[in-house]
Amino acid sequence: MSKPTIRIAAIPGDGIGTEVIEAGMEVLHAVSERDGNFDIDAETFDWSTQRYLDHGDFMPEDGLDTLRTFDAIFFGSAGDPRVPDHITLWGLRLKICQTLDQYANVRPTKLLPGINGPLAGVGPKELDWVIVRENSEGEYAGAGGRVHQGLPEEVGFDVSVFTRVGVERIQRFAFELARKRPRKLLTLVTKSNAQRHGMVFWDAVFDEIKGDYPDVTTDKMLVDAMTQRMVLKPESIDTVVATNLHADVLSDLAAALSGSLGIAPTGNLRPEKNVPSMFEPIHGSAFDIMGQGIANPLGSFWSGVMLLEYNDQPKAAARLMQAIERVTAEGTHLTQDLGGTATTREITDAVLEAIRQSNA
Ligand code: IPM
Ligand code: MG
Repeated sequence: MSKPTIRIAAIPGDGIGTEVIEAGMEVLHAVSERDGNFDIDAETFDWSTQRYLDHGDFMPEDGLDTLRTFDAIFFGSAGDPRVPDHITLWGLRLKICQTLDQYANVRPTKLLPGINGPLAGVGPKELDWVIVRENSEGEYAGAGGRVHQGLPEEVGFDVSVFTRVGVERIQRFAFELARKRPRKLLTLVTKSNAQRHGMVFWDAVFDEIKGDYPDVTTDKMLVDAMTQRMVLKPESIDTVVATNLHADVLSDLAAALSGSLGIAPTGNLRPEKNVPSMFEPIHGSAFDIMGQGIANPLGSFWSGVMLLEYNDQPKAAARLMQAIERVTAEGTHLTQDLGGTATTREITDAVLEAIRQSNA
């Protein structure tokens, strides 16, 4: 029987994206070699702000069709001070997520061994969450407009969009995920006390479907109160489902509480698996440290773990996660965001070494 191959489209994008995706691909190749049961076939695309400045587009016209032929997308970051962010994002990252309808954005947060978060007395046992972010509509639906531009009566508005299909599929996805975790606890984040249409509908769908998951315990939190619970009672949280904007904000807080934004991974998933899902570190392009070789590659590596898991290589995924945790536990190789002085190269080498030394 021939070995399965994971075909990866690597899109480093802007800023430190190039550095962390290069390191991430190196590590993924090493895991596949060590594992021996699958191959990786990767192609790198130069889709970025530089391309936009040179050619007027972030990706070729048939870019999305090209992506559809891959199993997974490994994305660095999008954002460059030379072009307004909303143009870059809608031209590249959001364009991919929206067109491929990768509606489930999954953001695990864990305090890795050896890493001290800002919360005293909180360790890996107390902080182990997954935030499920609605990734196709809500506040980011792109519905809205600007009217009377430049006139005194100018107005700009963004309309949140909640559809039954969109709400139900993300909440069911979160229930299924919560049910696979030991705690089987799902928290719905909402703001239905103030937003009386979409958010009330969001809550109502949750109440309608929760009976289908009798093994999952549920609770509801207003988003403002949720920020307090994350800080004051992290051990009371397990799986969280929230709208696009709410989860965007909460996941930055989660990343800070787990030590650094530099570690946090994400998967933009298409659960039907008829098109590729996209995996990326959430840290962004970080232009201030670009090109210095000091970016933290752990967010990229952990995104690689998610990529392997989602492409049916759980053993290899676990191997890579263990290698990451081994390096953080040793504590001798940490980048500046974690209080260390290690370079991207040094951390990558340490993780490569841990992969090579890992058990068969
Ligand atoms: C994230 C980022 C993006 C988002 C930005 C850059 C548009 O903050 O992945 O959380 O909100 O989706
Ligand atoms: Mg964000």
